[in-house]
Amino acid sequence: MMNEHAPYILTDSKSLEEALSQRLTDKGRIFILADYNTAEHCLPMIQSMLPQDGKDCMLMDLAAGEDAKSLDTAMDLYRQLITYGADRSSVMINLGGGMVCDLGGFVASTYKRGMEFIHVPTTVLAQVDAAIGGKTGVNLGSLKNMVGNFTLPSATLIYPEFLNTLPKREVMAGFAEILKHALIADHLLWTKILEAPYIDLPLIKSIIPEASHVKVGIVNRDFEEKGERKKLNFGHTIGHALESLILESPGKNLLHGEAVALGMIAESYLSMKAGKLSDDELKAISDFIAQHYKPIELDRMQFHRIIELMSHDKKNKRSKVNFTLLNGIGDSLIDQEPDMEDVMEALNYLERYPFPA
Ligand code: GLY
Repeated sequence: MMNEHAPYILTDSKSLEEALSQRLTDKGRIFILADYNTAEHCLPMIQSMLPQDGKDCMLMDLAAGEDAKSLDTAMDLYRQLITYGADRSSVMINLGGGMVCDLGGFVASTYKRGMEFIHVPTTVLAQVDAAIGGKTGVNLGSLKNMVGNFTLPSATLIYPEFLNTLPKREVMAGFAEILKHALIADHLLWTKILEAPYIDLPLIKSIIPEASHVKVGIVNRDFEEKGERKKLNFGHTIGHALESLILESPGKNLLHGEAVALGMIAESYLSMKAGKLSDDELKAISDFIAQHYKPIELDRMQFHRIIELMSHDKKNKRSKVNFTLLNGIGDSLIDQEPDMEDVMEALNYLERYPFPA
């Protein structure tokens, strides 16, 4: 099944207004899903662009954060949709980051066997990753994205100006996914990033088109993740395990993108061990990440726990741990199964890497 999908990148408010109006005119009731942050900071930026200045739109707001991405919240949203008369002519606008897009896409794609939805992503991570490619889902407790489907929105409208509303830490965490796209499939983008004098918001906004283009190309070739789409998992096998480990450690926190950045150091090491990445490339990647992200302190006991956590990943088969590794910078190889001793070495490399103070 071909599912051609490309987001629209709208660099000024007039084009965003036109894009919204084209998709909302002559539709039934409009529902807006937003978390507390986007309801406060982003909704006012689009309110006047909605039919009747949004007066007839129904706002469904949520607590921010992964905890809201649950079946309980989905049930609450289904009830609100029923109460306020959503039908197949209605449209749901998902205004937010990855959590809002995943949850909103899941609810819209299952309500009455599917109502129309539009993603309006407001974070770096959602603009280059979560809002592209049709993955929807909710978590089951600590098991991420356990229930969901692949359903494309009728449009993804990317407006980089929303990124002005984000804290710097959130921007840099999302930037890790841009870095990942460069490393797995776009050497030119990697060079542009390395040569930039600063990794700041203006630079990040300017490379959103290239970064989202990498994902669009991959998902248009392999929508249902039978092969090439797994390239997007680079950094995530170890990254997800680090995220889960931190969830088990009271008082510590690590954003998804920060975990992926650290995961990319360890998985670049595995790529080098597999003979697919030169020592110089490994050093360039590790130095860049160490300059822009904080290190993680791990002890030997935690290495074993990380390996245990990785074994539960739903992408594994036959009890082997599945990795995507780099095949030089700008190319990648899916379905790699390194030895566990090498994975231990990779964790050791990450733990000992000299991050500048
Ligand atoms: N975030 C990875 C994917 O959409 O496949």
